[in-house]
Amino acid sequence: MDKNQSIKDYNEKIKRIIVSEDEIKEAIKQAGEKINASYDGRPILLVSILKGSFVFLADLCRAISVPCEIGFMCAKSYYEGTVSTGIVKITMDLDRDISKYHVIIVEDIVDTGRTLNDIVKLLKARNPLSLKVVTLLDKPDRRLVDFEADMALFTIPDLFVIGYGLDCGEKYRNLPYIAEYDECDKK
Ligand code: IMP
Ligand code: MG
Repeated sequence: MDKNQSIKDYNEKIKRIIVSEDEIKEAIKQAGEKINASYDGRPILLVSILKGSFVFLADLCRAISVPCEIGFMCAKSYYEGTVSTGIVKITMDLDRDISKYHVIIVEDIVDTGRTLNDIVKLLKARNPLSLKVVTLLDKPDRRLVDFEADMALFTIPDLFVIGYGLDCGEKYRNLPYIAEYDECDKK
């Protein structure tokens, strides 16, 4: 396939914008203010679940003005095309003891809920001072386990979305907005 055709195919998969850059910016500003107010200078550790949450983490941490530290965990949810297989693996763990921190897990999206359900259980067993979950997106219609985030910035319908950290086959993470991925004619 020539170069122009593959760029055209790439762009055609971006069906429509679901959450715009401005909407994301405003919601993150408000989330940062809530965190500032409720943690009141206590030791915060933001735990970013890679890879999907790296863009959200970068903007959220800059909307927080109280002292906070950052940690990374890598969880891989195995997909067949755009359908979750339910297999979740921790491929990179945190580099420190979390028992002296108020942990805030930062996630891109809660879909079936399995990833966060597993991660929350794992981190709770390590006795953090407290543990909350903030997610950029929530797809409640798809839930398969009983899990709710403490803060969800946007609730979206049952669509496969890309951008702002979220991928399809590792692409589209760099889009500055959240878009619906066009699943017709899957390649
Ligand atoms: P869960 O375990 O089914 O809740 O899935 C969570 C993970 O699946 C997220 O962290 C994402 O990496 C991925 N995921 C779920 N829905 C989407 C989507 O619509 N687009 C891209 N990735 C998704
Ligand atoms: Mg992903």
